[in-house]
Amino acid sequence: VSSEARQMIEAHELLRKFYHHLLINTKEGQHALEYLLERGFTKESIDKFQIGYALPTWDFTVKLLQKRGYSLSVLEKAGLIIKREEENSFFDRFRNRIMFPILDPKGVPVAFAGRAIEKNDQPKYLNSPETDIFNKSSILYNWNHARSSIKKQQQIILFEGFADVISADRAGIHNGVATMGTSLTDQHVQLIRRTTDSVVISYDSDKAGTDAAYRAAEMLIKNGCQVKIARMRDGLDPDEYIKKFGPEKFQHDVIGGSLTFMAFKMQYFRMGKNLQNEGEKLQYIEEIIKEIAKLEKAIEREHYMKQLADEFDISLEALSAQQQQVYFKEK
Ligand code: UTP
Ligand code: MN
Ligand code: MN
Ligand code: MN
Ligand code: MN
Repeated sequence: VSSEARQMIEAHELLRKFYHHLLINTKEGQHALEYLLERGFTKESIDKFQIGYALPTWDFTVKLLQKRGYSLSVLEKAGLIIKREEENSFFDRFRNRIMFPILDPKGVPVAFAGRAIEKNDQPKYLNSPETDIFNKSSILYNWNHARSSIKKQQQIILFEGFADVISADRAGIHNGVATMGTSLTDQHVQLIRRTTDSVVISYDSDKAGTDAAYRAAEMLIKNGCQVKIARMRDGLDPDEYIKKFGPEKFQHDVIGGSLTFMAFKMQYFRMGKNLQNEGEKLQYIEEIIKEIAKLEKAIEREHYMKQLADEFDISLEALSAQQQQVYFKEK
């Protein structure tokens, strides 16, 4: 580790402690703490995940770290402060935000994500940029805590966001990590694959999360993983679901009831279609039998063909004949 990287990490460690202290113990942090408690975060999870608060001032970080002997250019490289073009001066990247430290696999803080507290503050989450110590596409949030549970349970649960991981953790699910957004990378997949081959994708059930779950499932399956996809009603995300329906229902109904990729596709392909309409119904059936044809196991193919036949009251023979036409002839 270069001494510059060391300085960057030390600066993150120092800031993490200050931010946490500001949130927990000061009047300045009180509204941020109230916001979190109102959302259902507990003192325990705030402590475990070392959540903090960055003051609204423009130069808290600049002054604090300069006083401690850090070079401003190193802090700029670390993404903690930003240079004003006109003058030779710097200001804090993170101001008036709830701070989530992002840790590397060893538990060392290498970046922050700052959540806006005020409703109209954009972006909702402000993140550290890519730096020498933070390679966003290879880090999964909470990996350092979750790794041993993932190993023991031989299963990982994939979330989108910070609040999802933390609420799930409070609900007793300790093998959860987040991609911090919706795009799973090849590096994430390699990291997961070295530890387990069983993945439950529990992304948000809105349009963006559903599309992303589809892409993530394809990537993971291509890399030899067993994949299930958890679904929640009304486009909820896991954090919102747990708050609304409780941890038990999340465990049993959502995680326990998670779908195979094929069952997920049967829901996915009907989104935006009106199956009362004859043409759209036939299009749906064609799409699904193509997907069924791609399944490796004959018993799986038969299982879903039967399901389709039952649902639409079409004979298995007719469906199979159609499958021959639309899929195997195409190949
Ligand atoms: P979501 O938009 O689903 O936010 O983005 P969320 O996690 O539910 O946020 P809360 O519950 O309102 O606090 C999922 C994840 O995508 C990343 C964050 O990691 C977020 O947790 N994200 C989202 C960003 O990096 N920037 C953004 O502006 C929004
Ligand atoms: Mn504490
Ligand atoms: Mn989302
Ligand atoms: Mn969400
Ligand atoms: Mn959320």
